[in-house]
Formats: sequence, structure tokens, C-alpha cells
Amino acid sequence: MDAAGKHFPVLVQEYVAKPGYDLRVVVVGAEPVVAIQRVSDDWRTNTHLGATVRRTDLTVPVRRLVSSVLEQTGPGFYGVDIVVEAGTGRHFVLEVNANPEFAKSAPVHGVDIAGLLAEHVLRRLQRAAHGQPTDDQLRLAA
Ligand SMILES: Nc1ncnc2c1ncn2[C@@H]1O[C@H](COP(=O)(O)OP(=O)(O)O)[C@@H](O)[C@H]1O
Ligand SMILES: [Mg+2]
Repeated sequence: MDAAGKHFPVLVQEYVAKPGYDLRVVVVGAEPVVAIQRVSDDWRTNTHLGATVRRTDLTVPVRRLVSSVLEQTGPGFYGVDIVVEAGTGRHFVLEVNANPEFAKSAPVHGVDIAGLLAEHVLRRLQRAAHGQPTDDQLRLAA
């Protein structure tokens, strides 16, 4: 319960010691299109709290983890937040964000998220207009 007496769900996670940044992978459709490090002195690395953004590689373990997320969610537009544990290198998914921020970070990492998203939406509309199943429908039928 918060100070105003409102009830809301609380999710408690074990703290994962991370090396000064976490990873944000932007997914458009079923494709991870860019990975960035969100770097901060604070343990919270949200860009709206002042973290800086730098592009990094979409490594094999990161791609594998994103694939397993997409098996659960289906295709869409997501920001998958991943932390790599310092020392062990173990990868954990922290959060999957719907409608992730891209206006501020796209000029920094250089991937045209808005354009890719527009193409993805267009493809879906075209399939729907031709009575063809969308990615989501194909997945549900599988
Ligand atoms: N279990 C955790 N271990 C380490 N850092 C975490 C953990 N959970 C969240 N964080 C960090 O806290 C910040 C915000 O977490 P998040 O769960 O994404 O909340 P929000 O919805 O406010 O973005 C992120 O920078 C993330 O790296
Ligand atoms: Mg977050």
C-alpha cells in the first residue's frame, strides 16, 4: 500500500551486481535491432534518470535470451532489459518494456527505430489487408 492508501502489486527481485550498466535490447517484430548499454554511477540505469547510452554488440547469449523472451510474448515492439552479473557473466532478464523509448537514444546509437517500426506496422497492415495471417496469428496457430 502506498502513502495514499492505494494497493498495487510489488515485485521483489534479488539484486544482481552489474558492471556499471545494464543492457537494453530493442525488438521490432521478432528481430532484436539494437543493443545499448545504459551506463550510470547509480544502480538505476534508466535514461530518464540521467544514464548515458552507448551501443554495444548483440552477443550470442543476449540473442538467445531475447529469443526465449519472444517465445513467451510473441513478436512486438519491446525494450528487453538484461543484466550481466559481474564476475559470473550470467545473464538475467530484468524487465520487458512495451513501447520503449527511442526518440532520445536513436540519434546516439544510430539505428532508425522509428523507420523499422513503421515498416513493421506497414507489413502487418498489408498482411491483414490481404487476409493473410499476422505473425501473432501464425504463432498462436503453431
Ligand atoms: N534485480 C536487479 N538487480 C540490479 N539492478 C536492477 C535490478 N532490478 C532493476 N535494476 C535496475 O534498476 C533500474 C530500474 O529497474 P526496472 O525494473 O526496469 O524499473 P523501471 O520500471 O522503473 O524501469 C534499471 O536500471 C535496472 O538495471
Ligand atoms: Mg525499466
